[in-house]
Amino acid sequence: MKFFIDTANLEQIKEAKELGILDGVTTNPSLMAKEGISGTANVERHYRAICEMVDGDISAEVISTDFKGMVEEGKRLAGIAENIVVKVPIIKDGVKALAWFTENGISTNCTLVFSTAQAILAAKAGATYVSPFIGRVDDTNWDGMSLIREMAEVYAIQGFDTEILAASIRNSRHIVQAALNGADVVTCPLSSILGMLNHPLTNIGLEKFLADHKKANEVSSN
Ligand code: E4P
Repeated sequence: MKFFIDTANLEQIKEAKELGILDGVTTNPSLMAKEGISGTANVERHYRAICEMVDGDISAEVISTDFKGMVEEGKRLAGIAENIVVKVPIIKDGVKALAWFTENGISTNCTLVFSTAQAILAAKAGATYVSPFIGRVDDTNWDGMSLIREMAEVYAIQGFDTEILAASIRNSRHIVQAALNGADVVTCPLSSILGMLNHPLTNIGLEKFLADHKKANEVSSN
């Protein structure tokens, strides 16, 4: 399973990269706005900085909602760096744009996916990744993980190549469940990635190992 970080924050991307487990980055217009990035030139400069930091796929989302606008914007984004993946919402013109990008050799991430029906359309249009939003599904009292499971089953039956990218991850348990239910990729906030490290027995065990080591060395040096 690939690990992406879900942020436009350069410090957090650097921290995740230093862990040595980072395969890519996803962003969206809200995450860019959170970093105070606005204006085409600044947005493109920021994407370039991320692409230079991380070797894997970097999702950059289009703002346009019409076919022509999405294609123009996507071409410009794809021109920033070889590892840019154009992120397109699952709307009617989005499907057309996905198919256009597929035909023209541009990688895509189909976003705002909340049903297996949408995921089938994304795969038919040749999307490189499809992003089901787990946390937002859970927020509405539905089960985000059963969506991943159903999508994975349908993709396997049909032999679709599109990779399932579990998005809207809220905690480290979500990551484990996404892995268990067949996600190819998870994109997570840094807090969820670091949350995977937490176990009280690890802390207690380490404290004891270090205390025993210290005691043994005090004894041998006397
Ligand atoms: C990433 O591709 C998505 O845009 C992101 O995971 C959405 O997360 P949120 O539901 O926490 O905003």
